[in-house]
Amino acid sequence: MKTVRFGIIGCGVMGREFASAAARCFHLPELRLRPEVVAICNRSLTPERIDWFTDNIPTIEQVTGDYRELLANPDVDAAYIAVPHNLHEELYCAAVRAGKHLMGEKPFGIDRKANNAILACIEKHPDRLVRCVSQFMFFPAVQRIGRMVEADAFGEIIEVSAGFLHCSDLNPDKPINWKRMVEYNGEYGCMGDLGSHASYVPIRAGWEPLNVRAVLSNIVLERRDGKGRTVPCDTWDNATLVCEAGAANSARVFPLTLKIQRIAPGEKNNWYLQVLGTKACARFSTKSANTLEILEYTGGEQAWQRIDMGHEVAYRSITPEGHQFGMSDAILQMLGAFLHELGEGKSPSRFAGCVTPEETALAHRLFTAALESHNKGTVVAL
Ligand SMILES: NC(=O)c1ccc[n+]([C@@H]2O[C@H](COP(=O)([O-])OP(=O)(O)OC[C@H]3O[C@@H](n4cnc5c(N)ncnc54)[C@H](O)[C@@H]3O)[C@@H](O)[C@H]2O)c1
Repeated sequence: MKTVRFGIIGCGVMGREFASAAARCFHLPELRLRPEVVAICNRSLTPERIDWFTDNIPTIEQVTGDYRELLANPDVDAAYIAVPHNLHEELYCAAVRAGKHLMGEKPFGIDRKANNAILACIEKHPDRLVRCVSQFMFFPAVQRIGRMVEADAFGEIIEVSAGFLHCSDLNPDKPINWKRMVEYNGEYGCMGDLGSHASYVPIRAGWEPLNVRAVLSNIVLERRDGKGRTVPCDTWDNATLVCEAGAANSARVFPLTLKIQRIAPGEKNNWYLQVLGTKACARFSTKSANTLEILEYTGGEQAWQRIDMGHEVAYRSITPEGHQFGMSDAILQMLGAFLHELGEGKSPSRFAGCVTPEETALAHRLFTAALESHNKGTVVAL
């Protein structure tokens, strides 16, 4: 068993999720590469950022506040980077230039210009595996929908709807953080943050947005900053994108709607996808993460069936197939996908691979056009 030594840059919410997944990768017994976290980096080295890592991960040999030191460490083979969006370009490019494989968090650049710069950098280092983090593709129901796409089971696409809905920002007393500030999160607001996740599966399916009409809303204009001051909350809270989309196997267009909301009353981290086709339809939401609904139309009764998905995963797990699946399992599967591709040179199937840099570029194109559409009040061609 070969080891891939990871350095984590950004020891926040996602840095911890990644470290936890890396610690239990033996859960996926067929992987031929084993990750080991050997270095961590966070801008501030406070106990609440660092101690959880050093208390729980005995393989950590380097703790630094300077990402350059981590990237200069020859014992680090790959970097997992989860930092605010304004730092993506600088850190992702530095990681690739330092010869590290990279799992970089979405949206892969604060804006289209930064994303272009990251892709240009990657192009110069084709021997490094670079992938974007987004775990929703790895839910069993989404894998099944992916196989239906591959088998062309939907027939002519009638309509696709995808979205990612959060509710906690409905609380006006929730203090501000970097994700609600344009300077750190970017002009895209909720689109760069939540919208990336919503867009990647339609992009992987080849449902290409041809144009977009976007309506963006900033609902809570100010928030407390944790020090008692009231400061502007200047990012878009909610976005609805209506696109005309095309599929490779058809000359027709169909509506593709993305709903991306930080203020969706009652919705806690609800990622969903609905595909309606002339031969089959499918819908899934992380609200009922074990359930896939499918309607197969062969001319008779049009009936939705509900399927309990269990652990029908892309990378075999020690968890029995009948047991339910959750968000941390999706992150583990995604890490499995990265390691599989690193070891074998390719993914076992189209939907079993992590999001590629090229796919992030398509999402950036869409979100940039959505900003223009909202500003001008018009449909913008992509
Ligand atoms: N995949 C997902 O489901 C998911 C969920 C949340 C966030 N994200 C993405 O993950 C990334 C980070 O988000 P988060 O929620 O973990 O944020 P976070 O605020 O919890 O963590 C970010 C960390 O980066 C550190 N940091 C800032 N500047 C740094 C620097 N120059 N060098 C080293 N460390 C630095 C901060 O101190 C902080 O600990 C973002 O790109 C975000 O979009 C993804």
